[in-house]
Amino acid sequence: MAQKVTENNSQKTVFGILGCGVSANFHASALLKIDNAVLKGAFDPNQNLCQEFTNKYGITAYNSYEEMLEDGEIDAVCICTPSFLHTKNAIDALNADKHAVIEKPMAVSTADADKIIDACEKSGKQVAAICQLRFSEDVKKIKQLLKENAFGKVSICSLSMNYYRTREYYSESGWRGSLSLDGGVLFNQGVHGIDIIEYIMGPIKKVCGKTATLSHNIEAPDTAVAIVEFESGILGVIEASTCAYPGFDRRLKIQGDTGYVVLKESSIEKLMLDGKMIIDGDNSEAIVDTANDPTKLRCGLHKLQLKNFIGAINGTETLISDCYEGKKALKIIEEIYG
Ligand SMILES: NC(=O)c1ccc[n+]([C@@H]2O[C@H](COP(=O)([O-])OP(=O)(O)OC[C@H]3O[C@@H](n4cnc5c(N)ncnc54)[C@H](O)[C@@H]3O)[C@@H](O)[C@H]2O)c1
Repeated sequence: MAQKVTENNSQKTVFGILGCGVSANFHASALLKIDNAVLKGAFDPNQNLCQEFTNKYGITAYNSYEEMLEDGEIDAVCICTPSFLHTKNAIDALNADKHAVIEKPMAVSTADADKIIDACEKSGKQVAAICQLRFSEDVKKIKQLLKENAFGKVSICSLSMNYYRTREYYSESGWRGSLSLDGGVLFNQGVHGIDIIEYIMGPIKKVCGKTATLSHNIEAPDTAVAIVEFESGILGVIEASTCAYPGFDRRLKIQGDTGYVVLKESSIEKLMLDGKMIIDGDNSEAIVDTANDPTKLRCGLHKLQLKNFIGAINGTETLISDCYEGKKALKIIEEIYG
């Protein structure tokens, strides 16, 4: 039986993980590091993978998805399945009286996001949409600097997500690259950046974009560009691709008339305030970490987001990214796709 009470008698949240692939490892590693979380078990229809994963983390291997959802000890389910399953899996978990953490993108359309929102409202349970970048200290710092007008008058920002994925990345997968199952470059790879640009810069008033499938043999777009007008009047540009060799880290650049900042992945690479360089990191365009290989992602930000989720379940914290927040990036992406 999963241990539900901590040494100081506070309630623990018991988790199950659905899907045992790449992203499930971030959830498992993070949950095992959180004091008031218990990871009880996992399920994947790929039995070998399920066994390997559950052995690796010393947890129960469920025989079916239903078996996990029927387990009364499980309080919350981490949904780490292919994107097109997120809506069904989340609704099933909520209907089974579980809280849900949904990997990004929360859904592959705003219509599906609305179905999750509806099920969430009816269940009274917590739903967290994964967008781990919001939990980066440097992202919080940039938001604060903007609030203090630390860059002077900001006129422009740019978000660059020029990644590279091999042909095998798509050809060896039954769902990646499909419009309805994966959604393409912005729903899959770009959603983090799209979420963070609005989270940092404030609401987007207007967006217009162009997408194309230029290099990969897939149905969904592999390349996208967009022009953005924020409600503040600031203008922005977005570029994203999965066929931009050799693939560079995501960068968000915000420039005012007295300073600027460059966020590289989740860390500040450059920061200039009042003409003085405060942070001057290496900006060499090396092929680094997660630009081309998501398996290299570390679980630290997932841990912070999962802690926030547990806090929301216990009524001690407000969810930073609930299902309404999870829908915001999807709406922008749909507008860019046109
Ligand atoms: N937050 C991040 O930075 C991040 C990184 C990578 C992937 N993701 C997201 O995580 C999701 C999964 O991606 P991945 O890279 O882990 O994929 P993956 O293919 O490595 O893993 C998905 C797993 O789900 C399993 N699965 C399929 N149908 C299932 C079902 N009905 N029930 C349970 N399991 C089922 C598959 O067998 C597979 O093992 C995607 O939506 C992706 O966008 C997020």
